[in-house]
Amino acid sequence: MESNRDLALVTGASSGIGAALAERLAKDGRDVLLVARRRERLEALAARLRAATGASAHVLVADLTDPEQLLVVEERIAREERLDLLVNNAGFAGYGPFAEIGPAVAGRLNAIHILAPLRLTRAALPGMIARGRGAVVNVASLLALSGPLTLPMPGRATYAGAKSFLLTFTQLLAAELEGSGVQAMVCLPGMVQSEFHGGGGGRLAGVPLMSAEDVAQAIVAGLALGETVCAPALEDATLFERLAELQQAALSAARSTALAARYAR
Ligand SMILES: NC(=O)c1ccc[n+]([C@@H]2O[C@H](COP(=O)([O-])OP(=O)(O)OC[C@H]3O[C@@H](n4cnc5c(N)ncnc54)[C@H](OP(=O)(O)O)[C@@H]3O)[C@@H](O)[C@H]2O)c1
Repeated sequence: MESNRDLALVTGASSGIGAALAERLAKDGRDVLLVARRRERLEALAARLRAATGASAHVLVADLTDPEQLLVVEERIAREERLDLLVNNAGFAGYGPFAEIGPAVAGRLNAIHILAPLRLTRAALPGMIARGRGAVVNVASLLALSGPLTLPMPGRATYAGAKSFLLTFTQLLAAELEGSGVQAMVCLPGMVQSEFHGGGGGRLAGVPLMSAEDVAQAIVAGLALGETVCAPALEDATLFERLAELQQAALSAARSTALAARYAR
């Protein structure tokens, strides 16, 4: 029998945050469409979710950095009339000094963290807006805020820059969607246990990491709270309001035509 449950599409569902979120959503009563490159992983998860939750779980194998495969996912999204949640989560770090990382790696970082979320969101929104309900979640990172900081971390300009894009994009999109019944939320995890940082014996050996299940819990709860920015480990959510005030103060210069005094010499 055809399912009449709401459907969530999760990219990067073959491990880490995406797999944990897909499991949580299926347990909560949604059908799930799992997207990533590793077919065996996706099929094993889909089979487990069908057996454990009764959800309909399907697999769509795609490399989201490949334009043709991305198009297949976009077309599928546009056709899915039950889609009420799109989670753009797939990603990789590709850290390294910018002048040294392969140009192809920099391109793939942009493709997975910027272009794919843009295109999939664009594919999902017309249907959601027409139905008057739904949500898009973009999984960014607290590193979206790391621009002015020097942290003891490897080069991350491309990765963090792409995550900053997702932060600003989602905040402005959420404002555009106000009153439509459709939500946009960006999630800013800190350090999370997944395959993202490589093997357990690497750079982060011994560093405490949040569980992917807790990030999934924060995403579900953040949506229910109506948050636009969901920071799973941040206790004081008013920090984002204060940050917005500072951004507003800096942005007020856009209305001034006079050169700032320090430049007028
Ligand atoms: N772990 C952290 O500390 C952390 C912190 C902040 C933000 N994040 C963000 O959280 C998201 C999920 O990462 P994670 O920590 O769960 O890492 P993960 O365990 O490595 O999972 C990454 C997922 O992305 C998929 N993926 C990677 N490249 C892809 C491609 N070209 N096409 C389709 N799918 C692709 C992978 O599947 P396949 O390999 O099967 O394709 C995998 O399912 C990422 O966007 C990451 O930037 C992670």
